[in-house]
Amino acid sequence: MCGIVGYVGKERCVEVLLDGLKNLEYRGYDSAGIALALPDTGRIETAKEVGPLANLTDVIGRRDEDFFKVRSGVGHTRWATHGRPSEANAHPHTGGGDPLGPEVAVVHNGIIENHAELREELKGRGFEFRSETDTEVIAHLLAEKVADGEPLTEALAGTLKRLEGSFAVAAMSVHEPETIVAARHQSPLVVGLGEGENFLASAVQALLGNTRRFLFVENGEIVVLTDSSVEIQTLYGQPVERETFEVDWSAEAIELGGYEDFMLKEIHEQPAALQATLAGRLDADGVVDLSELELGDLSGIERIVVVACGTAYHAGLLGKYAIERLARLPVEVAVASEYRYADPFGDERTLVVAISQSGETTDTLAAVEAARGFGARVLAVTNTQGSLITRDADTVLLTKAGPEVGVAATKTFLTQVAALYLLALELAGSRDSRSSEELAEIGLGLRRSPEKVEEVLGLLEGRVGEAVEVFAGARCALFLGRGHLYPAALEGALKLKEISYLPAEGYPAGEMKHGPIALVDEQCPVVAVLGEGILREKTLSNVEETVARGARVIAIAREGDQAGRVARVVLPVPEMPELLSPLVSTVPLQLLAYHVAKARGLNVDKPRNLAKSVTVE
Ligand code: F6R
Repeated sequence: MCGIVGYVGKERCVEVLLDGLKNLEYRGYDSAGIALALPDTGRIETAKEVGPLANLTDVIGRRDEDFFKVRSGVGHTRWATHGRPSEANAHPHTGGGDPLGPEVAVVHNGIIENHAELREELKGRGFEFRSETDTEVIAHLLAEKVADGEPLTEALAGTLKRLEGSFAVAAMSVHEPETIVAARHQSPLVVGLGEGENFLASAVQALLGNTRRFLFVENGEIVVLTDSSVEIQTLYGQPVERETFEVDWSAEAIELGGYEDFMLKEIHEQPAALQATLAGRLDADGVVDLSELELGDLSGIERIVVVACGTAYHAGLLGKYAIERLARLPVEVAVASEYRYADPFGDERTLVVAISQSGETTDTLAAVEAARGFGARVLAVTNTQGSLITRDADTVLLTKAGPEVGVAATKTFLTQVAALYLLALELAGSRDSRSSEELAEIGLGLRRSPEKVEEVLGLLEGRVGEAVEVFAGARCALFLGRGHLYPAALEGALKLKEISYLPAEGYPAGEMKHGPIALVDEQCPVVAVLGEGILREKTLSNVEETVARGARVIAIAREGDQAGRVARVVLPVPEMPELLSPLVSTVPLQLLAYHVAKARGLNVDKPRNLAKSVTVE
């Protein structure tokens, strides 16, 4: 969490930093700040404000022209870990200097685990602390070395050797105003390459308006940026060669484009996101081709473990259902933060599938590392090119949803699910566990999923309002589903609670009688995700039990389904091969959460306490 950005080059530093922070605000919005090397004097000036970036932008907007002629600086958007959101705790943090300004400024993403010891040590040497953050120790350590005459790069290397924990750090010094230095350990950092200017940021989307050419910085490396050069070296000063990579996301993809919120825009982008994810991987006959993964001989795989967090975990549950059904391979789905400490076991016949939209969720990366410990092969499903997980995995199945800005995952969820269906088909094909006709039928259904999602968006137009009315006065909600629609229910509940702050439980419909039914009354709407066949019948009977106890029910059901006899509102979804139906059934749940949150006057793109990228444990 937290986003950092840095720039050296032309007289547009403030603009680049603010634009970068705007695109990184999904990582945290407790405060924002920038530090600039002022022209002529080279002195460092900081500006920081509590709350969203807009507060900082307003304050900066009142500065005189000279302020905008700056050519180098760093910026930060914060998700508070150490110390509450306050101006004192906002980054950049500074060290050294005199009444006219500090000697160094630092921005940091991550956690310095030994900050308490370092703080005591520094206090013992007379340093005064102005914040409660772990980051401030970095500023003082760096300032101390710079004041001793060490060049900035050397001073940063020396400082980093004292730190334990995870970090991406960028720093500047009054003595070298045309240089920005940065480094990382476990937290993400990329360098953007320009002409007569260079950039750095926590994620590529911060810089898409400026460049598509990037360099990845590895753990334990320092990068030194000037307007005309980018040098990467180890902490011990050895130069490192690094290849550039290009990103095909466009800057427009992170604009609202006429929508009220990113979440709504991203829900509506789902057909295109699915189309892009399936393109080239599924032919006109429904035959899957994942040879790009170079998975080699799949026959040796005896077991699959999916590791993921949050929404990605729900996608994993759907992946399990499909892989077990089609490929007849046992699949375990683990919450990454549990798996990493569970002393997991297996061998090279275990395929670990790590799902992460951002590719930088700390727990998912740690779960991958734990699986590596026993020799597993690792396949990453991610949406982010050049992200940390793409470095750690043996192979990557990229979802092509484009950048997702809304904190609540929507289009990346559907594309993760589609990617896992592709994997299930590939595994089934290689194991001959199903006839080629059966697989082609599912493949063709998957190929049609972008149209089906388009269709469901059309069907729901103007219909969700009635369902939102059912939520008037609600104090909680229960989402029910069975089989492959149980993960859809879980996802519906997560969407609702994260953006509307209403307590919501996702439950297997048959399990409801073993506890959650006690929640049911007029103020606890029940959202039932119905499928086809026997599971539909069973779920519907469970729903009737809640109706008998006063529940107001919203059913997600096939068009024409008679669920209206028990449900107050039916949100229709089109016909689809049953296995694939979560692709359409999730869409009304996303829209329901969206509209309930809007009706409650909430900011759906930036729900409280959350950040899109969870880079701390
Ligand atoms: C919920 C949501 C989160 C993420 C989770 C994992 O809408 O977005 O639950 O799914 O934090 O994030 P990634 O996929 O980036 O690892």
